[in-house]
Amino acid sequence: MKEFRDKVAVVTGGASGIGAALVRALLSEGAKVVIGDVEEGALKKALEGFDGEVSGVVTDVSDPASVEALAEQTYSAHGACHLLFNNAGVAAPSANIWETTPNDFRWVHGVNVHGVMHGIQSFVPRMIKGGAEGHIINTSSHDGGISPLPYQSVYASSKAAVSILTECLAAQLESEGTNLGASLFYPSGGMLDTGIWTTDRNRPKEFERERPGIPSPTVEQFKEASEKAGWTLQFQDLDELARFTLDGVREKRFVIAMNLAETEVTLSDRAKRIGAGNLPIDPQGIPQI
Ligand SMILES: NC(=O)c1ccc[n+]([C@@H]2O[C@H](COP(=O)([O-])OP(=O)(O)OC[C@H]3O[C@@H](n4cnc5c(N)ncnc54)[C@H](O)[C@@H]3O)[C@@H](O)[C@H]2O)c1
Repeated sequence: MKEFRDKVAVVTGGASGIGAALVRALLSEGAKVVIGDVEEGALKKALEGFDGEVSGVVTDVSDPASVEALAEQTYSAHGACHLLFNNAGVAAPSANIWETTPNDFRWVHGVNVHGVMHGIQSFVPRMIKGGAEGHIINTSSHDGGISPLPYQSVYASSKAAVSILTECLAAQLESEGTNLGASLFYPSGGMLDTGIWTTDRNRPKEFERERPGIPSPTVEQFKEASEKAGWTLQFQDLDELARFTLDGVREKRFVIAMNLAETEVTLSDRAKRIGAGNLPIDPQGIPQI
């Protein structure tokens, strides 16, 4: 899809961070956008700040009925969806797996993995039936999709699942001869100052930790720990990242990520370690917070 003018785009998690930047980029190209986000107050506030044809539906992507309602409202308002960004995501506090709780996994995998799956199940049949050219963009993370941070096991395992799901989806859409494609989006280019650092704001009571939690680090704590570990942090502008993502969709790239040459080095290093029967990540190489 070369041209986004008058195309209908659905962005989950579009009230904040990367999703909001995607909404701004889509609107600036003349697309009509529907945001599905669970945080009602933030959604309302975000909608007031956007410029263009945009609406919002309070949606919990972890609930199939809620995502189905998002699809129904999108189709009754616009009669189509050409671009689906399964972007909503949350993260659990860092912990060794044996220190996590079932609810850490239920919540994070419910939103990050089941949320993407619900988006595909509610929208793709409608998009296929509509017959128009369309694209599904699933947001993964280097943390899991490329190389996991061991102390981020809940989040990393959810994003690894998103990457594999999207690979299967793209292959299926092509082999079935549909007019749809899929891309795997890795937010990249540096550190991203988004709401993910306060992700617990969206954690529902029913998925509260069964034991007192390990507090999530703030951006400042992460900066401090990284500096101690000798890492130089550089922040990526979110609007530039969103424009880069739309270019990736235009160019039908399956993997949409900045600095892919570095990713290739990481992956070939992992492949070598795996080929030798070894643990692909260096347990000492990652700063703990
Ligand atoms: N920030 C990063 O460093 C980074 C890196 C790689 C990947 N990602 C991924 O990018 C995506 C966007 O995250 P972000 O960094 O912009 O964080 P963010 O917190 O700013 O945005 C996430 C959005 O998702 C919404 N959301 C949360 N739970 C939801 C639910 N159940 N249903 C619907 N919406 C829900 C939030 O309200 C919020 O608007 C996520 O999938 C995240 O995992 C982020």
